[in-house]
Amino acid sequence: MKLQDKVALITGGASGIGAETARLFVSEGAKVVLVDLNEEKGKAFEAELKALNAEALFVKANITSEEDVAASFRQAIEAFGKVDIVFNNAGIGRVQPSHELEYAEWRHTVNVDLDGVFLVAREAIREMLKAGGGTIVNTASMYGWVGSPGSAAYNAAKGGVVNLTRSLALEYAEQNIRINALCPGFIDTPIIPEESKQALSAATPMKRLGKAEEMAKAVLFLASDDSSFMTGNSLIVDGGYTAQ
Ligand SMILES: NC(=O)c1ccc[n+]([C@@H]2O[C@H](COP(=O)([O-])OP(=O)(O)OC[C@H]3O[C@@H](n4cnc5c(N)ncnc54)[C@H](O)[C@@H]3O)[C@@H](O)[C@H]2O)c1
Repeated sequence: MKLQDKVALITGGASGIGAETARLFVSEGAKVVLVDLNEEKGKAFEAELKALNAEALFVKANITSEEDVAASFRQAIEAFGKVDIVFNNAGIGRVQPSHELEYAEWRHTVNVDLDGVFLVAREAIREMLKAGGGTIVNTASMYGWVGSPGSAAYNAAKGGVVNLTRSLALEYAEQNIRINALCPGFIDTPIIPEESKQALSAATPMKRLGKAEEMAKAVLFLASDDSSFMTGNSLIVDGGYTAQ
């Protein structure tokens, strides 16, 4: 088992990529803390994992709140004594023409997808400095590397996450904290509207959407000792999209 006795805090852990990663992590021996705004889904998933004899804790938190983020790490440490791995993954996305995008909507997207990622990473680094090390995986996107029409705020935030990852990785490389990013292509989760799925599959060289389980395997690689000489990297897992 690759994560025996490790404690992993996963934001956006109630759904999609975060939930599938939690499922894979517990199968590799980890205890998981699911941090999410969605209490209903989070509690149901916590119960599902516990029914499989996994050690899991759901914490309701908004990653844009400094207090919520600090409280979720406190609760993780109260429950399991430490945090070895942080999958900094919660995010939102919406497609809208930029000339119609209200400033408040821009701020909201950047607030969750970039500021929230920073707040979680900062708290993770504080704990990992005390503990003597750890690993962080930020979820960016292939849209941290290439552009697309109608998602200016999301794409700007995800590009920010890619360079935030490099910058934090350099800052803490000597403190035994590895920080990498996952850059998914189009993945079949609730964030993708049903009516878009066919077009997004067609736009992908492999002619299908990715599965959350396929992202989880890449996150396991980045979070575990299998990637022990990697930091500051952004791993693109996109069915070939950005190779075009
Ligand atoms: N699915 C894709 O095609 C795709 C592609 C590239 C990147 N991503 C990224 O992957 C990550 C996970 O997305 P997903 O596809 O699993 O979608 P999802 O909607 O299934 O999961 C996202 C989770 O984040 C939670 N969340 C949203 N805002 C939050 C906040 N402020 N505080 C706490 N929790 C919050 C939601 O409640 C939800 O449970 C996101 O960062 C997303 O941008 C997804």
